[in-house]
Amino acid sequence: SFLGIDLGTSAVKLLLMAEDGKVLQTISQEYPVYYPQAGWAEQEPEDWWKATSEGIRKILATTAAAKDPVQSIGLSGQMHGLVLLDRESRILRPALLWCDQRTQAECDFITDQLGSKLSEYTANKALTGFTAPKVLWVKRNQPEIYRQIEHVLLPKDYIRWRLTGEYATDVSDASGTLFFDVARRQWSMEMVDFLGLPATVLPSCYESYEIIGYITGQAAATTGLNKGLPVVGGGGDQASGAVGTGVVKAGTVSVALGTSGVVFACQNTYSVDDANRLHSFCHANGKWHVMGVMLSAASCLKWWVEEVCQLDASGFTALLNEASAIPAGSQGLIYLPYLLGERTPYSDPNARGTFTGLTMTHGRAHMTKAILEGVAFGLRDSLEIIREQHIPIQEVRVSGGGARSILWRQILANVFDLPVCVVNSVEGPAFGAAILAAVGAGVFADVEKACESMIHTTERTDPVATDVDCYHAIYPIYHQLYGRLQETF
Ligand code: XUL
Repeated sequence: SFLGIDLGTSAVKLLLMAEDGKVLQTISQEYPVYYPQAGWAEQEPEDWWKATSEGIRKILATTAAAKDPVQSIGLSGQMHGLVLLDRESRILRPALLWCDQRTQAECDFITDQLGSKLSEYTANKALTGFTAPKVLWVKRNQPEIYRQIEHVLLPKDYIRWRLTGEYATDVSDASGTLFFDVARRQWSMEMVDFLGLPATVLPSCYESYEIIGYITGQAAATTGLNKGLPVVGGGGDQASGAVGTGVVKAGTVSVALGTSGVVFACQNTYSVDDANRLHSFCHANGKWHVMGVMLSAASCLKWWVEEVCQLDASGFTALLNEASAIPAGSQGLIYLPYLLGERTPYSDPNARGTFTGLTMTHGRAHMTKAILEGVAFGLRDSLEIIREQHIPIQEVRVSGGGARSILWRQILANVFDLPVCVVNSVEGPAFGAAILAAVGAGVFADVEKACESMIHTTERTDPVATDVDCYHAIYPIYHQLYGRLQETF
């Protein structure tokens, strides 16, 4: 079998896949996010390792793993996070996460200093979530830590180091650092110089399907994996997730309904859109992709169920059932999902969530439905930018925790006016990582062939014409609300 490990924001997800693409076993292990100040988000890399090594032990103890032993491993994970190690490879400070918003001043500095060169060097614009502004923040605010930096790693690559002893990454995850030359698939020395980082702190960079290390004796003793098992490059969770939904050719689009929400389109050649409204990154199949990212997607629902309604995990089903009885449009109630600020399309850390249009007739069920709709409208903002690039889209493949909800898939289909499909696993990134591991092990000639052979659609939700019309009328109102409210945030 092949083991995919996705180091997410709320949990690490592990997945065992057979050679025919059948998912044999999944396990997930949670860890906390720390919010030391409003807009800051950090995690302890040691928590990641503890959860991952325990998860590996648990999955290896299953009959599935005993019957079909692991042949190779793929890593996927939350992107952009900054992990800093000193010369003894000790963790210098908690990791700054993709959703951390503290770096607006550093982004402004990068943009002012580099102007149009930034897109030339990196294919992207400076956004608070990306890694380069985080490096600058540490340089400016914690110079004693900055001086001790010997290794800069992305979250999943910290796990790679614990497993293999290699300081390495893959092109898709490296793309989100803002010190990577996406067009040439290598580190941007211009950006590395600009940040004042010695090039020696950077991990080696490989394609996602290449083997770039082997399980060490020490990692074998901790996890129960066999020493010497190969580990492939893997990918950032969005590129891995696209592999895991079979979005490796033009025409299909992947939508991730995880903590973040993402609309992702594969491109055969490198390109950037005007004003870099979309992220332009390397894909895990040797090609490129563009994507729009919203910061709060399924996390809006989690917040609503757990923090506001104070319900446990079973509350999700109860609330979604209630919401399914509410007509499209939630009777005039509109929700803006910007609980952590927003990346695409606004790049605004100060954007905030709202409910507008509340009346006495609205209740909890309307609010739940409005949340599902608000996230779908937020994703449509990214989809519209992708459509403007004349990228053909016939179908959406959805993955992530939110993809389990039939109601949410139907709302997406209606808001997008496109069929929305799920494939044999909704664990997109972990599944994609396992597929990359199978390609690395030589089972398939390339990622496209692996996806053709292992991925098939299991459910398809078509848009319902009357609801499409209703959302078509509401979307412009949703879209205007941010601009109208911006000065109040
Ligand atoms: C992608 C992004 C998020 C994280 C979440 O650019 O920031 O999707 O990767 O895991």
